[in-house]
Amino acid sequence: MPNAAFTTTLLAFLTAVSFGATTPTPRACEAPYYRYEDNVPGVYLVNFTDGYTLQQHFDTLGQTFDVTKLNTGYSANLTDDLLSEVRADCGVQFIEEDALGLSPAEDDNNIDDFSQSSGFLDRRAKQKDAPWPLVQLSASRQNPTDDTYYHVEDSGQGVDVYVLDSGINHPQDELTDDNGNDRIIDGFNYSNDLDYTDIGPAPGHGTRVASAIGGKGYGVAKSVTLYNVKFFHNGFPDTLGFVRAMQAIIRKHDARKTQSSFKGSVINMSFSLKKTLSSNKQLDLAYDAGISLVAGAGNYGYGPNHHPSTHPKVISVAGSTNGYIPWEEIGTGSNYGEKQIDLWAPGRRLPLCNRNGKLYPSVGTSFAAGYVSGILAIFY
Ligand SMILES: *[C@@H]1O[C@H](CO)[C@@H](O)[C@H](O)[C@H]1NC(C)=O
Ligand SMILES: *[C@@H]1O[C@H](CO)[C@@H](O)[C@H](O)[C@H]1NC(C)=O
Ligand SMILES: *[C@@H]1O[C@H](CO)[C@@H](O)[C@H](O)[C@H]1NC(C)=O
Ligand SMILES: *[C@@H]1O[C@H](CO)[C@@H](O)[C@H](O)[C@H]1NC(C)=O
Repeated sequence: MPNAAFTTTLLAFLTAVSFGATTPTPRACEAPYYRYEDNVPGVYLVNFTDGYTLQQHFDTLGQTFDVTKLNTGYSANLTDDLLSEVRADCGVQFIEEDALGLSPAEDDNNIDDFSQSSGFLDRRAKQKDAPWPLVQLSASRQNPTDDTYYHVEDSGQGVDVYVLDSGINHPQDELTDDNGNDRIIDGFNYSNDLDYTDIGPAPGHGTRVASAIGGKGYGVAKSVTLYNVKFFHNGFPDTLGFVRAMQAIIRKHDARKTQSSFKGSVINMSFSLKKTLSSNKQLDLAYDAGISLVAGAGNYGYGPNHHPSTHPKVISVAGSTNGYIPWEEIGTGSNYGEKQIDLWAPGRRLPLCNRNGKLYPSVGTSFAAGYVSGILAIFY
């Protein structure tokens, strides 16, 4: 004869199992979760399988919460509990933390000290007394005796160059058109900076890059349009900001393609991003949309993988001196190596225009990449 207490316990047990009241439901899925040592705490990028929707996801979870929609899924602040729920949804392919790269302050230094005449703020197809990087870039052989930069009229007109950096200051003569109008467009902000000025751990970095790309006196393509794209998180490039910026740029590029005056787009990336699935994907998408991607090879004086420069679809630019040798310093210098580098361009003792509009001697592969972005604009 069964004991009454036992029967009650058994019944309670069976009830619990069949209704899932006290034992956890077995998980059908568990999406991979990628962690990064340096990250924005609590912020995740969630990737859906093709065709899966946010509504389906919320329905599966039985709850809704605040998200930033992405073309590959969404981003949200998740608690540990919610994170496990999200991973258990079979519509989720993977989750990754919002990884941080290095700020340009750690990437680019400006230790040069030299004086050079700044009498070349004069826009010509033949620019006399040009800064040495421009002379070298347009010369047909090494050590040219003629100090002219040969370029074409209206070089880069109709080309959009997206400068993902610390900001670009304006107005300044260096970055205007023939009528004195700005060639800088603000309007891409995925950072937490309160304005579009060139600020952060490396103030002036973005303006100098812009000056290398399209400066009237110091730069390569003197009629390009420069897009001031901000996405750093407290001064550090992060995956989420990068993904959102790239989505916006690709949309803009696709819209511009329908306009007859439009020639092409170049994205210049002057930062060290953490290599993640989500950032790699956006580089592929931008490339597929027909955008040229240029990045500095990094200023660590060595060859290990650097992101995004070593992504196979990105043109990775190393920095050379005016003597045509790799730029090297104690403890720093241009990255190098066959697997790391596509091109070398001037990268040390560079006369460029700073955020205050003044000549500023610069060093770094960032600026080498800026010159190459300018050359691509001329090709377009
Ligand atoms: C998400 O977390 C980040 C960093 O921890 C914080 O800056 C941000 O305000 C949070 N966002 C929301 C919507 O809570
Ligand atoms: C993420 O999700 C989308 C579809 O939802 C997919 O097309 C994409 O390739 C996925 N992967 C990455 C790395 O973003
Ligand atoms: C950029 O976006 C952040 C976050 O939404 C906002 O706080 C900031 O004011 C914006 N900055 C600019 C220049 O629009
Ligand atoms: C271009 O990219 C390089 C390399 O990442 C960076 O160092 C430089 O600042 C960027 N230049 C501009 C003008 O954005």
